[in-house]
Amino acid sequence: MMNATRTDFLRAAAFSAAAFPMLGNAKPVGKIRVGIVGLGMRGKGAVKRLSKIQDVEIVALCDLREEMVSRAAKILADAGRSAAQTFFGTEEVWKDLVALDLDLVYIAAPWRWHTPMCVHAMKNGKHAATEVPSATSVDECWELVDTAEKTGKHCMQLENCCYDFFELQTLNMVRQGVFGELTHAEGAYIHTLCGLIAKEDGGYQGQWRFHQNNTKNGNLYPTHGLGPIAQCLNINRGNRFEHLVSMSSQQAAFTAWAAENNKPEMAALENYRGDMNTTLIKCAKGQTVMVQHDVSTPRPYSRIHLLQGTKGMVRKYPEPRIALGHKWQSDEQMKELAAKYEHPLSRTMGAIAKKVGGHGGMDFIMDYRLIYCLKNGLPLDQDVYDAAAWSSVMPLSIKSVAKDSDRIKVPDFTRGKWKTNASLGIVDVDPAKLPVVGM
Ligand SMILES: NC(=O)c1ccc[n+]([C@@H]2O[C@H](COP(=O)([O-])OP(=O)(O)OC[C@H]3O[C@@H](n4cnc5c(N)ncnc54)[C@H](O)[C@@H]3O)[C@@H](O)[C@H]2O)c1
Repeated sequence: MMNATRTDFLRAAAFSAAAFPMLGNAKPVGKIRVGIVGLGMRGKGAVKRLSKIQDVEIVALCDLREEMVSRAAKILADAGRSAAQTFFGTEEVWKDLVALDLDLVYIAAPWRWHTPMCVHAMKNGKHAATEVPSATSVDECWELVDTAEKTGKHCMQLENCCYDFFELQTLNMVRQGVFGELTHAEGAYIHTLCGLIAKEDGGYQGQWRFHQNNTKNGNLYPTHGLGPIAQCLNINRGNRFEHLVSMSSQQAAFTAWAAENNKPEMAALENYRGDMNTTLIKCAKGQTVMVQHDVSTPRPYSRIHLLQGTKGMVRKYPEPRIALGHKWQSDEQMKELAAKYEHPLSRTMGAIAKKVGGHGGMDFIMDYRLIYCLKNGLPLDQDVYDAAAWSSVMPLSIKSVAKDSDRIKVPDFTRGKWKTNASLGIVDVDPAKLPVVGM
């Protein structure tokens, strides 16, 4: 087996000569032909949302389970769309979908499939968009980056929280300098999920999420909390995650839940992930980031979403608040700030996105913006380097936890290009160029 240094050297040698630009544009396309893989709790919503975008043709649907494919086909028919080709029955049947004439493979399968599916899609000439996290190991992160660079195909991680309304407003305020120079940020995925994770039927297919939680101890789901913060901090675009340290609490809440819910075998697990994982990341430009993960403790949902700088701070949970001095802004001032700094994307798409739905509308803004960029040959808001950097916090936090919170370096997936890449601007769309239908 090659050691890490040699592997890194070979990678650098393979790509430095080519001097790849930050992956950006693709040719404009008329209709975007999409194949969707994974039609469970999440994937079926994608079928509904994408079918509202005029220039999307959902030409193929795939899931392990026939009933999920049938259900998705009905969603398509109810939306008045043409029937798609369907694939089901085996764990590798999605490769038949990838072989079709498609522009985009849209993936909402369990975590272990994300990287293999993205890589295969890109190698076969398709753009890939995957649910979060896009990778579960550092090698997989590199595989995504290497493949996107070699093939010139997009690989977008579908981090919908970047498109939530308050997060968009925050990004706009950061870009306008309202908080001054940022120094610290906090994010999280705190969501009590014991019941769903333990469910045998009607929950995660084959209890895949339970198995992940029972074999990994760290921050297993970092991107919802990290994505919006990373955009504000210009990660991979003038800044980068440099190193992290991580620690997990003991495991107690899942055991307590299992005991109370008559699941003695789950109450006796020895390696189940610690309830609360806290990871601290140091950025190249000096900022500190705290990101937490807890899907066991019975407590209200939170992604924290806190950013602070030399002029003030913003925090979303438990309720959105902004401070530009010693005191929180009043409700009246909060309304004024929301009106003044509403992000153009939510101003343009917010009302229709709320009608289409998907986590209150953010899912539709994300899908719409993805298709809009592909159709118009624009760079995506989240690229393969973001997918790799944000997702890498899962395996790197696991490594740190296993080593008594050792400091772990975060690889520079951009190979130095973070120093010159331009930051994500305040983007917008022109709805006349991509009508929403069936509303
Ligand atoms: N962004 C968000 O807000 C959000 C919310 C929920 C879930 N997710 C993510 O979406 C993904 C799916 O989660 P879910 O809750 O829908 O889980 P799920 O178990 O309900 O759905 C996964 C589907 O993939 C299918 N599948 C499994 N292996 C397959 C294979 N080899 N080929 C084809 N299909 C296969 C399963 O049969 C199932 O229908 C996960 O990555 C999860 O993290 C994201």
